[in-house]
Amino acid sequence: AKMRLGYEDKSLALECASAIENGGACALTVHARTKVEGYEPPAHWEWVRKIRDAVSIPVTANGDVFSLQDYLDIKTVSGCDSVMLGRGAVIRPDLARQIKQYENGKTVKDTDFAEVSSWIVQFFDLCLAKEANNKYPVARLKQWLGMMKKEFEQAQVLFDRIRAIKEADEVKQILLSFEQEMHS
Ligand SMILES: Cc1cc2nc3c(=O)[nH]c(=O)nc-3n(C[C@H](O)[C@H](O)[C@H](O)COP(=O)(O)O)c2cc1C
Repeated sequence: AKMRLGYEDKSLALECASAIENGGACALTVHARTKVEGYEPPAHWEWVRKIRDAVSIPVTANGDVFSLQDYLDIKTVSGCDSVMLGRGAVIRPDLARQIKQYENGKTVKDTDFAEVSSWIVQFFDLCLAKEANNKYPVARLKQWLGMMKKEFEQAQVLFDRIRAIKEADEVKQILLSFEQEMHS
């Protein structure tokens, strides 16, 4: 199961976690914010520790992990071995790989936008294969680039090139030439 810390406040957080455990959940992920807090930073990782201490099922910590350092920090503060990535995995698509490299004692390497551009083409193809309606892939791609431009300035460049375009075929051509540019 997955829970937030509460709706308006955190007063029932531990009770809710226990109810989830007693209800038969075998594991619990905690997004360390209330509903009212939305996505506002900071996530309250110390509350994940309180919940972890209150239940006996495994607890996964979630909220505001955007870098390897955040991953290490959330583990320290929450005491959890397991971490869920949300927006961090979208904004920084190699974040899970960086964490894996770190956990396996390997050199941690940042991706570059050339590699990301290949993932973008792959993502777009997968969306096209799944969706007959071609509005969805284009809208999703714009949304993804909009999130990634915080981390990669080339995401803004690509976003600007497709901003006004609605047709999937046209977008695909732009993606392919952008990918070629990135790899040349
Ligand atoms: C693309 C995306 C899809 C998500 N889908 C779900 C979902 O289906 N169910 C859910 O409980 N949370 C969903 N979430 C919320 C995340 O699991 C997570 O709890 C939230 O984003 C907080 O983590 P963050 O601060 O790392 O983003 C989604 C988040 C993202 C970015």
